[in-house]
Amino acid sequence: MAKNQNLTGEVYYPAPEIVEQVHIQDFEAVHQQAMADLPGFWGQIAAENFEWYAPWEQVLDDSNAPFYKWFVGAKVNLVHNALDRHQRTAIRNKAALIFEGEQGDRRTYTYQQLNHEVCKFASVLRAMGVKKSDRVTIYMGRIPELMIAMLACAKIGAIHSVVYGGFSTEALHDRIEDSASKVLITCDGSRLRGKIIELKKIANEAVDRAGTIQTVICIKRTGQEVEMVPGRDHWYHDLMNLPIADPNAPTEVMDAEDPIFILYTSGTTGKPKAILHTHGGYMVGTATTLKWVFDIKPEDVWWCAADPGWITGHSYIVYSPLVVGATSFMYEGAPTYPYPDRWWHLVARYGITILYTAPTAIRGLMRFGENWPERHDLSSLRLLGSVGEPINPEAWRWYYRVIGREKCPIMDTWWQTETGNFMITPLPSMPLKPGSATRGFPGVEVDVVDEEGNSVPAGEEGYLVIKTPWPAMLRTVYKDPDRYVRQYWSRYAEQGWYLPGDSAKKDEDGYIWVIGRIDDVIKVSGYRLGTAEIESALVSHPAIAEAAVIGVPDELRGNIIKGFCILRQGEEGSERLEKELRDHVGHEIGPIAKPTTVDFVDSLPKTRSGKIMRRVLKAQVLGQDLGDLSTLAD
Ligand code: WTA
Repeated sequence: MAKNQNLTGEVYYPAPEIVEQVHIQDFEAVHQQAMADLPGFWGQIAAENFEWYAPWEQVLDDSNAPFYKWFVGAKVNLVHNALDRHQRTAIRNKAALIFEGEQGDRRTYTYQQLNHEVCKFASVLRAMGVKKSDRVTIYMGRIPELMIAMLACAKIGAIHSVVYGGFSTEALHDRIEDSASKVLITCDGSRLRGKIIELKKIANEAVDRAGTIQTVICIKRTGQEVEMVPGRDHWYHDLMNLPIADPNAPTEVMDAEDPIFILYTSGTTGKPKAILHTHGGYMVGTATTLKWVFDIKPEDVWWCAADPGWITGHSYIVYSPLVVGATSFMYEGAPTYPYPDRWWHLVARYGITILYTAPTAIRGLMRFGENWPERHDLSSLRLLGSVGEPINPEAWRWYYRVIGREKCPIMDTWWQTETGNFMITPLPSMPLKPGSATRGFPGVEVDVVDEEGNSVPAGEEGYLVIKTPWPAMLRTVYKDPDRYVRQYWSRYAEQGWYLPGDSAKKDEDGYIWVIGRIDDVIKVSGYRLGTAEIESALVSHPAIAEAAVIGVPDELRGNIIKGFCILRQGEEGSERLEKELRDHVGHEIGPIAKPTTVDFVDSLPKTRSGKIMRRVLKAQVLGQDLGDLSTLAD
């Protein structure tokens, strides 16, 4: 983008000294080059930056779209690129991961040490009978062993399914059962805000309900007493001390298109679906986007403050930072524990150069005022990032001024579990507008269209669409290819466009402003939840006959959940029951899914075919026009 271009609205132009130093200085030129020859563009990047056991015959096979294939015929393993190849260079002695626990305990792993642990655990898994393409569920707190477990699975070609450590019994059970995992890796407990979350206890309940799990491997983190089932359960540290734990375990040779993991995410209807990613394309996409958007240099200390249990952590804590040879920082606990300056303390102590977090965290920290960050030396920071929901301009400006001291560009990255990597995002050389994720990454053609697929005029709301395929795209919904086609590719089947499920606007400069979800997905504090899962948890309570939940805008959390329940005959609504229902949802899905309020109602607005019209409920709650009610039953 031309530096002197006059853009409309509130614009922040990058300082010339920043533009001079970054990997990509001219977005427009790179984007045009990519659009002119997409396979050529990605083929060159893939050949120059990664090691392949065998080359591809074809970069992109779109003959069976939307079942796209990338780097067809190539042999590769992402872990070979993340760990193995670095053992031959100076990166071997560099810190791969710096960790601090909530209690202040610290650990650092060099690339050599991390590889050592991953190899040992990979051979333990092999010895326990885990083979290529077997599914392994991982349910843990934010500790280095989570990363080691994921990498060990990928190394031997097993498909991991990480379930966020904030989820609870039923959520874990559903995901174990759907993936038919035989092995579960968990820990005794995890720490958050000075409390212990009893992960092993929850895991035991879920495993008892599921019945597919034959082996549980438990990491000792908190040291509290836990129930271990003889024959089924093993301590990680015991296994890692056995002679089978081989520090030189070989890496499995995979096809580029072989799955690396599945990750469950909420969709429009029904149970969460497992999004499937692959070794080759996912590696190329995540590493390239990280390197270009966050301009990773050898001396950086990168802190992606997400949880590895969500896609942000998979792509930008565990995998891509290692592939590009970066140093990552990971913190176990809550941002405000024990004081609201814990994060700023960490930035100063570890000399963090790039901080990537969610708007909800920024707003949460903003509440405590400027004194807390001002007490710390944050001058090591050079870039900031945001992800998970639209960032409101007020939070953007605070982040820019108070944390970035007006010298750190903010990379507002729009993407999804499905996309694998950043899709709409600035590069540090581009002018920024608070609240806009700017433009498609090079090679990603984004548009905002109406029902028919016509581009809508600037300033008008429409459906966000992606018009070009990209290497890290999801390949399918695990075990449900029809759902993959229906959910993402059916609305604009004729044009062959991907439908993310968000609404957006484009401004006169072509900048994209994402508005929010158009389906039944609710983003609470940046976490993605589905109405169906929460409703089914409510209905599983004996007092409830029917339930509907909606997301309502909230200043701090983006959205909060409101529940509406019809009681079973003979039951009576009360404050006590409301609390019981909230706790019930917390126990079944996890504390993040708890409705803020539950109202007891006599009926719910439904279509004649019986589908709950959440849109009508929402309009009622917000006091808005109820819109078209012609399909309402009564
Ligand atoms: C929302 C998270 C606005 C969006 C990486 C998307 C955003 C959903 C942004 C995916 C952003 C993510 N601006 N909205 N920068 N980033 N979203 O799968 O609604 O947990 O569809 O992936 O988050 O959530 P998911």
